[in-house]
Parts: sequence; C-alpha cells; structure tokens
Amino acid sequence: MNILVTGGAGYIGSHTCLKLLEQGYGVIVIDNLCNSNPKSLDRVCALTGKDITFYEGDVRDEALLRKIFATHEITAVIHFAGLKAVGESVAQPWRYYDNNLNSTLVLTKVMSETGVKRLIFSSSATVYSGDNQMPLREDSHTGGCTNPYGWTKYMTEQILSGLAHADKDWSIVLLRYFNPIGAHESGLIGEDPRGIPNNLMPYITQVAVGRREKLSVFGNDYATHDGTGVRDYIHVVDLAAGHVAAVKYAAANTGCEVFNLGTGTGYSVLDMVGAFVKANNVAVPYQIVDRRPGDLDECYADPTKSERMLNWRAEKSLEDMCRDAWNWQSKNPMGYGE
Ligand code: NAD
Ligand code: UFG
Repeated sequence: MNILVTGGAGYIGSHTCLKLLEQGYGVIVIDNLCNSNPKSLDRVCALTGKDITFYEGDVRDEALLRKIFATHEITAVIHFAGLKAVGESVAQPWRYYDNNLNSTLVLTKVMSETGVKRLIFSSSATVYSGDNQMPLREDSHTGGCTNPYGWTKYMTEQILSGLAHADKDWSIVLLRYFNPIGAHESGLIGEDPRGIPNNLMPYITQVAVGRREKLSVFGNDYATHDGTGVRDYIHVVDLAAGHVAAVKYAAANTGCEVFNLGTGTGYSVLDMVGAFVKANNVAVPYQIVDRRPGDLDECYADPTKSERMLNWRAEKSLEDMCRDAWNWQSKNPMGYGE
C-alpha cells in the first residue's frame, strides 16, 4: 500500500516516512523543500534500507499532483506540507493563507477526481480557543485564533469536515498535535529550523551546543506551578506512530474525525530546562524576559479519544525526549546544513 506524504522531508514528515517504511508501506513524498533538506529522506532510506519516491515540487502544482496520482496507486495521503511559523504568519498573512489553504484545496480536488479519498491532516492544538478548561478535549471550544497560521489550521479543518459531510466516501482524520519535540533515537534525523528557532526545544538544544548564548524564558508570572508556561510535549516518534494509527483508522472508517495527539501531561519551561540538563549533563544558561504576546498559561491534551479509537498512546518519557533531542543536535550541530 502506497502512502503519499506531502511535506515528507520536514521534521514530522521524515519521522513518519520512517515509521511507514518500517511497517511495510510504500512511501511517495512531495515537498518543495522551502523549509527542509532532502538529506532527511536519504537518511530515512539509509536507516530502513528501503526507497522513497521523491517529487520536488509544490502541492499547489495541480499538474504535478495529477502526474503523481496517475503514476502511482495511492491508498491514502498524509498532508504535512504547510508553513508553520507563528510570527512569520503575522508578518506575511497572504503567503500563509495561500500556501496552507490552496495546497489543501488543490490536493483534495485532485484526490477527489482520482477517487483517493483517505486523508490525514496535520492540525494543531492552536485551533483551541483560549477560554477552555484543561485538559483540552476534541469537543473543547475552537476558534478565536491569535494569528494567521492558527486560522489556516482552523479553516482547513472546516474545509475538510465540509468535504466529508458532502461526500460520504471521504475518510478524513484531523490530528491536533500538541508540542512535538525530540528526534529519532539514531540521531540521524531531527528538527532543523531555519534561522532563530521559535520553539522552546530547538532553542534549548542550540544553546546547549553553543550556537546561542542563552535561552530567554518568556515570562515567569503565569498561573502555573513555577510561573512559566506549561505545554504538552510529545516525542516526535510517538507522533509519527499516531499517523500510522490514523492511516489504519481511515482505511476502516468514513467521515471526518478529529483526534488530539498529546501525552496528557504538561511541563513548564523551567521543568523542560531542568529535565534537559539532568538527562544530558550539559549547561543551559537562561534569563527570564517579558511574556511573548499570544502565549497561554497552559495547554495540554486529554488524549483518551485517541487511545480509545486509534488504539494509540504516547509511550516515550520526558527523559527520552530530552536525550534524543540532544543526541540529534550534538551529532548535527548545524542540522542538515554541514
Ligand atoms: P516542517 O516545516 O519541518 O515540514 C513541513 C514541510 O512542508 C517542509 O519540508 C516544507 O518544505 C514543506 N512544504 C511547505 N509548503 C509546501 C508546499 N506548498 N508544497 C510542498 N511542500 C511544502 O514542519 P513540521 O514541524 O514537520 O510540521 C508538519 C506539519 O505539522 C505542518 O503542517 C505544521 O503546521 C503542522 N504542525 C506542526 C507543529 C510543530 O510544532 N512542529 C505543531 C502543530 C502542527
Ligand atoms: N518559550 C520560551 N522561550 C523560547 C521559546 C518558547 O520561554 O525561546 C516558551 C513559550 O513561552 C511557551 C513554551 O516555551 O510557554 C512553548 O513554546 P513553543 O514556541 O515551543 O510552543 P507553543 O506552545 O507556543 O506553540 C507550538 C507551535 C505552534 C502550535 C502549538 C500548538 O509552535 O505552531 O505549539 O500545537 F500551534
């Protein structure tokens, strides 16, 4: 069975390609490499001893998609391709709406015409509004997004659920990720953000490896146990396994279903720094600075629906996440770029 993975050269995509190959699926990737390096796929092939068919191109390129669907018998699509930097989306809203919405519209148009109607979509916990009680359930309030990136995820969920409502042959799984971190245990693939990292863990690893002087902790006056923001960090290998579970679910069901992919446990920024230092015995200097606009006190999942219906749960510990993130960064100080 062949799975088309859009954005498969990226951080979560490459880990998911590896899991799919390990489980015997054929993997076809389309990626325009706007935020990734094709070495990630070479390394996935080296790790598994299997091949990936790679198309360098844009998911909005309808002719290329037609060619891919005509060339391969595709069972399902996992749609990772998208722009994901929150701050950049505020500065460049049109680019984010164009890329993230039009990629999904073109993809589902071609899928519909070719009769491939199983789709797994990368959504985000960012679609939940700020007025919810924790933990977040799939039926918690959504909307009220604070940036264009979040709106693209919210709108794509609306588009895809409308599609499944109108055509009962579709099987669509919306996966709301919490905070993916870590790397494959080999240290051969991992997260390689361009420029200054926006997210906590890559910033920590770049401080630890000496690329940045110190971490800025954004605020210590939140309503949390130590005043710093609390999030639900999930190992990217667990997240990848969640996609394989979703592919199996989509093969056996129709309609549109939404699932949280998180652990259910929240850790603060200072918990993360402490766990990283303890797991790896390296220093992570930090300073407390002002809050980052738009950040919530806390955000963590209720993962029980995924456990019940996808038969999936996160297995890896915070120590695993910290160790594997450092294994990747210390073996690849400049990411894929050296
Ligand atoms: P990533 O940037 O590493 O991967 C995305 C990939 O998509 C990149 O390889 C990029 O080159 C490619 N891409 C982007 N636009 C494209 C287009 N129009 N055509 C072809 N390829 C294109 O990001 P990631 O962390 O692996 O995230 C994957 C998905 O998960 C994204 O949709 C992201 O919004 C979503 N997500 C990520 C997080 C996170 O914290 N990493 C959290 C929630 C949701
Ligand atoms: N933080 C710092 N310093 C940093 C970076 C982050 O203190 O340099 C703090 C933040 O204030 C927050 C926590 O670390 O309290 C986590 O921040 P991240 O930027 O790593 O993650 P967010 O929860 O803000 O957002 C992430 C993704 C979003 C996604 C969201 C929910 O970046 O795209 O998770 O899935 F929408």
